[in-house]
Amino acid sequence: MNQFDASLHTSFAAPLPLLDLCPTPDDLRGDVIAGLSAHPKSLPSKYFYDSRGSQLFEAITLQPEYDLTRIETALLQAVLPEIGDSIGAGVHVVEYGSGSGSKTHLLLGGLASVVAYTPVEISRQTLLDTTRRLGRAFPDVQMLPVCADFTRHVPVPPARTPATRTLVFFPGSTLGNFDGPRAVELLGAMRGTMGVAGRALIGIDLVKDIGEMEAAYNDAAGMTAEFTLNLLLRLNREIGGDFDLRAFSHRARWSPQRSRIETTIVSRCAQKVHVAGHVFAFERGEELQVEISQKYTDVSFDALANAAGLHVARGWNSPGDRFGLRLLEIA
Ligand code: TRP
Repeated sequence: MNQFDASLHTSFAAPLPLLDLCPTPDDLRGDVIAGLSAHPKSLPSKYFYDSRGSQLFEAITLQPEYDLTRIETALLQAVLPEIGDSIGAGVHVVEYGSGSGSKTHLLLGGLASVVAYTPVEISRQTLLDTTRRLGRAFPDVQMLPVCADFTRHVPVPPARTPATRTLVFFPGSTLGNFDGPRAVELLGAMRGTMGVAGRALIGIDLVKDIGEMEAAYNDAAGMTAEFTLNLLLRLNREIGGDFDLRAFSHRARWSPQRSRIETTIVSRCAQKVHVAGHVFAFERGEELQVEISQKYTDVSFDALANAAGLHVARGWNSPGDRFGLRLLEIA
């Protein structure tokens, strides 16, 4: 099958040529049953981002304790001229997990000439809202949104004006939400998408004070807790679950061994939960693993990139080495 046969699913209802790879509820059901049957129990974090989850995530990025987004945005703004010099003109920007698109807005405005923009996003509504907004702001950039799970192979639709180079944009330290082998796999997939002349621009959160790192995932206003627990609400609604949210709580802790924040949902009592026609027993205090947020050092990130056949062509850290941006090329 030609990889672009998927364009048969193009939605003509929207004025945008949406390539809809239809991430289906079947994936959700199968993944959840597998995750809740495992020891320890886990759920894939990509399912956080339904439309409520995407809204809650935006609220997290505004919390005083969660400074990653603000620092990354300021860093991007500061080094954009240098990034522009390294990238040149005629770029097709491909973004994995477009979210609200505010950093993208900066990037598209800062590069010399962008021929096309392809956001790859699992939340269809977020994808459409972001693409429409960016489309209005950048009428000369062809918008080619793809609704898909970027952890699988994603075909990039060809731009009307052929691009000189593809730039994969992956900000937000989202790479850190993948464990070592899966991060290497994802970087490898990006390497394929980039092609020989391509580049990837990746945001990475750096190791810093433990109290500050933990606070970023335990904001006082409770936005992160609400975001995490929203996953259970989603399961209740979409695949028939009866999670009682009062019987679970959010927990985020630094793991010194693995240099990452580990987010779990803790069962406050012994209980049985029904999900998708299955019964799952939780012990009191049992933790359901929902997210990891890897924190990097210059050295650990170089090694990760190298393991995927990439190398760091340029790198920038924010003042005090809190957050970094890395421009990668094929090694
Ligand atoms: N990429 C973000 C991070 O790891 C995602 C995120 C922020 C997140 N806060 C969260 C994921 C809380 C799960 C729970 O920083």
